[in-house]
Amino acid sequence: MSAAECGRPPHIPDETLCIAHRGYRACFPENTLLAFAQSLGRSHMIELDVRLSRDGEVIVFHDELLCRTTNARLCASEWGLSSLQVIDWSLTELQRLDAGAWFLEADPFSSLGSKLVRAEDILVHLPQKIPTLDEVLCWSRKHAMRLNIELKDLAKVELNRLLVEAVIAALQRQQVEHLVLLSSFNHRLLPYCRGLAPDIACAALQEKTHPPELVAYLRDLQVCAYHPENALTDQALIALLWSAGIAVNVFTVNDHLRMKELAGFGVSGIITDYPHLSTCGQA
Ligand code: G3P
Ligand code: CA
Repeated sequence: MSAAECGRPPHIPDETLCIAHRGYRACFPENTLLAFAQSLGRSHMIELDVRLSRDGEVIVFHDELLCRTTNARLCASEWGLSSLQVIDWSLTELQRLDAGAWFLEADPFSSLGSKLVRAEDILVHLPQKIPTLDEVLCWSRKHAMRLNIELKDLAKVELNRLLVEAVIAALQRQQVEHLVLLSSFNHRLLPYCRGLAPDIACAALQEKTHPPELVAYLRDLQVCAYHPENALTDQALIALLWSAGIAVNVFTVNDHLRMKELAGFGVSGIITDYPHLSTCGQA
């Protein structure tokens, strides 16, 4: 991926990318194949999160703990497991969980209540397994859907290295490097990715404040894109980074007017829970 392609590929000229956050998180259970399938035709790219299982497999999952988005609490007591941390479960155990039904009960964005989505359109697809990264890469190749894979910080140097190595190996195995943009809040992981796969596109995620000497900092990291949180983003930032050849993809923007404003500033991509609201959706 070239710098421009990290945010604005040649076949979508002058268009802001719509990046579906954790799939289509407002209306479908996050980070599931159901949410990803529903993003087709509504987004140009899908953002997802990856972590390691106890046995070193890469799975697509956001939280450190299993309880918010699966039925792990119930299963753990039935199966005699005491921890609810993802890293303490094997892939086999993780794949016996349901990562979809919680959404019907929690209705986290009130999209069921407001009839934006119908419960029966989710029910018919339950249970949803926690996907492996390999499954999602295979799906992405089939649909030529670009992915922004966020490497979660596993808080231990050795685990983070294992995660990066396993992700790069999966991208190479599935031959999808050209479809993928890797990102992380842990910026130390990004040069490590580039060291293992010099052509891989990387982006630095940032919240609260910008690093000092931002352009030089990003150049040192060898990233082609910067992913600031919405509150950190203004027109001057976008102009500065474009002039340095660095794309800007902003998270998480769920307000239609703000999407329009950012698109007017020339932002390269908008990460949103509501891809159908985006001015850049393909639907
Ligand atoms: O990639 C942007 C966004 O996903 C980062 O935050 O917590 O939703 O993974 P989070
Ligand atoms: Ca994420």
